[in-house]
Amino acid sequence: KSASVDINIDAQHPGAVLNKNIYGQFMEHLGRGIYEGIWVGKNSSIPNKDGFRLDVLQALKELKVPLLRWPGGCFADEYHWRDGIGPRDQRPRTVNSNWGGVIEDNAFGTHEFFEFAELLGAETYVNGNLGTGSPKEMVDWLNYMTSDADTTLVRERKKNGRDKPFKVDYFAIGNESWGCGGNMTPDYYADLYKQYSAFLKAPADNMPKFIASGGTNEQTDWTQTLSDKIKPSWSLRMDAISHHYYTIPTNNWETKGSATGFPKEQWFSALQQTLRIEDFIKQNVAILDKNDPDKKVGFYVDEWGTWYDVDKGTNPGFLYQQNTLRDAIIAGLNIHIFNRYAERVQMTNIAQMVNVLQAMILTDKEKMILTPTYYAFKMHIPFQDATYLPVSLSNIPQYKSGDASIPALSASAAKAQDGNTYISLVNTQLEGAIEVTLDQVKQAKGQLLTSDKMDQHNTFAQPHNIQPSDYSAKVKNGKAVISVPAKSLMVLNLGKI
Ligand code: AHR
Repeated sequence: KSASVDINIDAQHPGAVLNKNIYGQFMEHLGRGIYEGIWVGKNSSIPNKDGFRLDVLQALKELKVPLLRWPGGCFADEYHWRDGIGPRDQRPRTVNSNWGGVIEDNAFGTHEFFEFAELLGAETYVNGNLGTGSPKEMVDWLNYMTSDADTTLVRERKKNGRDKPFKVDYFAIGNESWGCGGNMTPDYYADLYKQYSAFLKAPADNMPKFIASGGTNEQTDWTQTLSDKIKPSWSLRMDAISHHYYTIPTNNWETKGSATGFPKEQWFSALQQTLRIEDFIKQNVAILDKNDPDKKVGFYVDEWGTWYDVDKGTNPGFLYQQNTLRDAIIAGLNIHIFNRYAERVQMTNIAQMVNVLQAMILTDKEKMILTPTYYAFKMHIPFQDATYLPVSLSNIPQYKSGDASIPALSASAAKAQDGNTYISLVNTQLEGAIEVTLDQVKQAKGQLLTSDKMDQHNTFAQPHNIQPSDYSAKVKNGKAVISVPAKSLMVLNLGKI
């Protein structure tokens, strides 16, 4: 017998606005994420607009990508921005020492990044180099991008083809400074942050929000130290602290588990691992609530997603993995959690947008496929800038595996900009539909993403194995009964309620 759950949406007590940047993306100079995935160059046989491949551009436009984070990741702390400006054929050739030791020809640099963001209508998040840069290098980069004064730097930008300043919405000082960004302690980093921050200036109408590089996983000491030591003021800006968490089915970096063809236990353990992020957010937010009661400092999860063993035969440094129904379910669960903490979690960036880790899009030369994660994000577009609505479940059925259990049903609701209320539902179980009853709704129409196979995925030979289908339930006297299939994600428009 299938479980049944009544869901009440509390429209009388709306919560925070779900900043559209909760649905942000991350693009690093890593593997085929940028080169081939986004940038093919003007002379490529792959159809492109000024070097950006058209198929990917179009798919990302349809995804309404709100925000792009660039250039890393670990790459950011070895990136020297001057390598990526000026005539392309004269840019230095460097080695990408983090990711496969391949040659980086710097064809994609500052101008290309902003041109791409502008084509997508996305906000921009530039991650500065703290690890191997200097305050001067960082200050110059910010000035190059944002200044309108008649300086030599701005003249150089104009000579390189850009008259108007670029719009930098967010700027981070370093990345994973506890690890690839310099093996620092939180204390040491906090002092460096204060030093750099003092010199990073921009015109008032183009002042980015500044992000401090925080901790990972269960760590709270970074948030603690940064919020203890850094009290934002006019000369010390800290608008957010970042945090990273990757979902690894085995919770073991040596053998992470496979993206496809995994055992049932790893369906469960991947979901179980991903749900841990709620506790990590909760602990860090509790520290901020104490140290920053006025809620001036955000908590940005600027890297998250699944991380599996790389696909067989691919460069281990390129982090290329397939993407299945399991990834879409994981995306849905994370989105529900982020929405719950939207007061502080005003930005997240899934890693990474194209061809790397939990990607939206995979490419193989001129071919492109959309992943189940792409569809999960697309289904949640109405949640961008919507207002959070609390939901209560009459009971939460449990999905058990061995001694462990996780909630079998997860839900999140919001009132969208179009005035309609939307609900997102995830059934985490491999077997058994869950009957959900919603009261006082006008309609229940939307999309369903599911499959018979737990590792269903699209391939270059079969690009449409999995995609959402339309769904609609009857509504009688304001009541809708929805059968949420096993291993599925649903987003429904409930009308104006
Ligand atoms: O996303 C891949 C890498 O994961 C990033 O470069 C780094 O910040 C993290 O460790």
